[in-house]
Amino acid sequence: LPTLRVAVLGAGTVGTEVLRLITKQGDDLAHRIGGRLEVIGVAVRDLARDRGVHVDPALLTEDASALVRQADLVIELMGGIEPARSLILEAMEHGAAVVTANKALLAQDGATLYEAADRHGVDLSFEAAVAGAIPLVRPVRESLAGDRIDRMMGIVNGTTNYILDAMARTGASFDDALATAQQLGYAEADPTADVEGHDAAAKASILASLAFHSRVRLADVHCEGITSVSDQDIAAAERMGRTIKLLSIVERVPGEGGERISARVYPALIPSTHPLASVSEAFNAVFIEADAAGSLMFYGQGAGGAPTASAVLGDVVTAARQRLRGGVGLRESHYAALELVPLEEL
Ligand code: NAP
Ligand code: HSE
Repeated sequence: LPTLRVAVLGAGTVGTEVLRLITKQGDDLAHRIGGRLEVIGVAVRDLARDRGVHVDPALLTEDASALVRQADLVIELMGGIEPARSLILEAMEHGAAVVTANKALLAQDGATLYEAADRHGVDLSFEAAVAGAIPLVRPVRESLAGDRIDRMMGIVNGTTNYILDAMARTGASFDDALATAQQLGYAEADPTADVEGHDAAAKASILASLAFHSRVRLADVHCEGITSVSDQDIAAAERMGRTIKLLSIVERVPGEGGERISARVYPALIPSTHPLASVSEAFNAVFIEADAAGSLMFYGQGAGGAPTASAVLGDVVTAARQRLRGGVGLRESHYAALELVPLEEL
């Protein structure tokens, strides 16, 4: 079988699980792909840190730039804007396909990455960037590409759902629930991104861009987090038969002279009988309303090392197959941004 040289950038919560799956399922993956994945290096900051049995210390390097230049396929799992953006661009320039889970970067500067992937004729895939293990990016990008998506609404951040759920069900404090979410590998390296709603807003911008074939950036999303939600708010909601959930909503709205997009993230009171109210722990759930398909619901583990690694590996298998066939998969076809609607106008 032919071999594909794989560079992994980051061996934290997700990177370690990706390496575990590549090792554990090596033979199966080779058959599914029609080629072997050879991990040629793993870029980290701290070479001395113990990363368990699934990360071969001999593969660790601090020179991520040299690593991406030798790879056929780069898996970016370090997070943050820089050096992730420069490394992804460098990888594509050298002809490597890229798989990333980096929603913050896609939301801030996805346009540059899509454009570079097009220019260099390589794949850029990011199923793991939205809603962990749930197949959502691919359905929106591919399965529903012939339909017209009108609205997407749901829970796309596991950490905040874990916190709100623990506060409501066990009476845990905000700080204790956040600390547990961090231990379980759900939170971002800086959990401010979770609790302030920025992570959910980044995901909303990615979904809106894909669903509406437009360019919606992080700054375009109205964003409120959960830091001001108190125990008293949760108890009051319960007395009213309501549950507090951090919702992300992206939708088309009619406007004068054409259609617009509204994208927003905020804690909402929802009836406790609503399906979203029973989404517990770090699970995510998203409803899609499309013209011909009608209503669709997606549900599953929205955060954590193994669930996210599942989505990453799905992209790796697809990109590796494409690579061996000598082709590229999807191209982004963003149109000029539809006008965005401020929340207060709705
Ligand atoms: P993490 O545990 O903080 O791991 C980040 C890894 O990247 C670490 O191994 C770190 O090295 C390495 N790294 C960071 N900056 C680097 C640099 N400048 N040079 C070289 N290596 C660097 O993060 P994670 O939770 O695995 O998340 C990784 C990515 O997946 C992020 O984009 C995140 O948003 C996304 N994601 C995470 C989840 C989740 O549930 N955790 C789910 C979906 C998507 P050291 O170990 O040496 O510090
Ligand atoms: N911090 C993110 C969350 C990870 O809690 O949802 C998954 O994207």
